[in-house]
Amino acid sequence: MNLSVIGLQWGDEGKGKIVDYISDDCAAVVRFNGGSNAGHTVVKDGKKYVFHLLPSGAARGKDMILASGVAVDPIILSEEISEVSGKILVDSRCSVLTPYDKKLDEIIEEKRGSSALGTTKRGIGPSYAMRALRLEPRVCDILADGFNFEALTRFYDMIGIKTNLQEWVEYSRKVLRGMEGDSGARILELNEKGEEVVFEGSQGSLLDIMHGSYPYVTSSHTLSTYIPLSLGLSKDIVGDTIGVMKCYATRVGSGPFPTEEKGMLAEEIRRIGKEYGATTGRARRIGWLDFVSLKYAVRINGVKEIAITKVDVLSKIRQLKICRRYSVDGKEITDFFKAIPKLDVAESELEEIDSLYGYDFSLGIKGKLKRLIQLIEDELNLPVRLVSYGEERSKTFELS
Ligand code: IMP
Ligand code: MG
Repeated sequence: MNLSVIGLQWGDEGKGKIVDYISDDCAAVVRFNGGSNAGHTVVKDGKKYVFHLLPSGAARGKDMILASGVAVDPIILSEEISEVSGKILVDSRCSVLTPYDKKLDEIIEEKRGSSALGTTKRGIGPSYAMRALRLEPRVCDILADGFNFEALTRFYDMIGIKTNLQEWVEYSRKVLRGMEGDSGARILELNEKGEEVVFEGSQGSLLDIMHGSYPYVTSSHTLSTYIPLSLGLSKDIVGDTIGVMKCYATRVGSGPFPTEEKGMLAEEIRRIGKEYGATTGRARRIGWLDFVSLKYAVRINGVKEIAITKVDVLSKIRQLKICRRYSVDGKEITDFFKAIPKLDVAESELEEIDSLYGYDFSLGIKGKLKRLIQLIEDELNLPVRLVSYGEERSKTFELS
């Protein structure tokens, strides 16, 4: 059966490590959303790999598939592909992100002033917008040589961005030639031969354009339910969904973050957890485990099993807090859906629980760690299958 791996928070949950751990026997790793805004980190033999556009399986020489919901930047693709050995298939229906999308991303952020979203400035929002306007070229358009760029050029002209796409089109054609194909057909073919694939979600559930903390979201769908649409297949293709959650929370960029912690303690967690954006290098904001939003993320993805990451970081922190409810205008809220319109004023009610400070991972899963896992299982009503306590693949407990 295929498997999907989805982040349950605001991204950076450690999906790259989990995908790496579970993808040993799979035939290919598939990206189905987003673009080079992602920052998937994998450590192999002590070497750190960060991929922005390729799926994490790239580090192990796996075959890679980009489904049609991915916004492809040929410049980044060319850079990343030169470092890996696996074969790549890029769906012919992927839209191709132009340098002017990046420019527009910067301009819109600037125009927003103090309410800027803090995007990665990789052109993601404009590229999805141009696709919705039917102005963005697809991979098949770039390769077919028949695409009329006039409307796109005029659009950019109208907003004061001068374009010259000729050279970029030539370049993109060279990069993309030979990679194009039908991602859905390829996956069906693999499945018919008894081979399986892993779908790797990018960003996190709460950054989904429709179901996340809008407008402080990314411009793609980050949920498991987008997988079939991105492939052009039915929902049966998705297989079981593993929800990945860090045992605290982080957020990079602007927007509401109800369990946010500031000050010295946040700084300590940031330092120990190396919480700096893999794409932009920005310091990630730090917060506590938030079961209100986690329950919602579980629901909107149909999560079957949980993977928790970075428990080693908690073993170096003397305090541990969790949140099971928010207070909004004096009212208690446990349903994230109801909190969404009021997220900026939602206050989390934090409870201090037994910390993992000093935990010795050579003991396996015992005592304090066992109790934390039990609490997560009880709150989410799901089994925890994987517990990651370090960057290396070997630092993973598998629960039966
Ligand atoms: P964009 O996706 O570049 O438009 O950025 C929109 C928001 O999503 C910003 O707050 C980004 O910091 C955030 N974001 C985008 N990609 C990632 C990611 O891979 N991890 C964490 N945050 C992300
Ligand atoms: Mg990341």
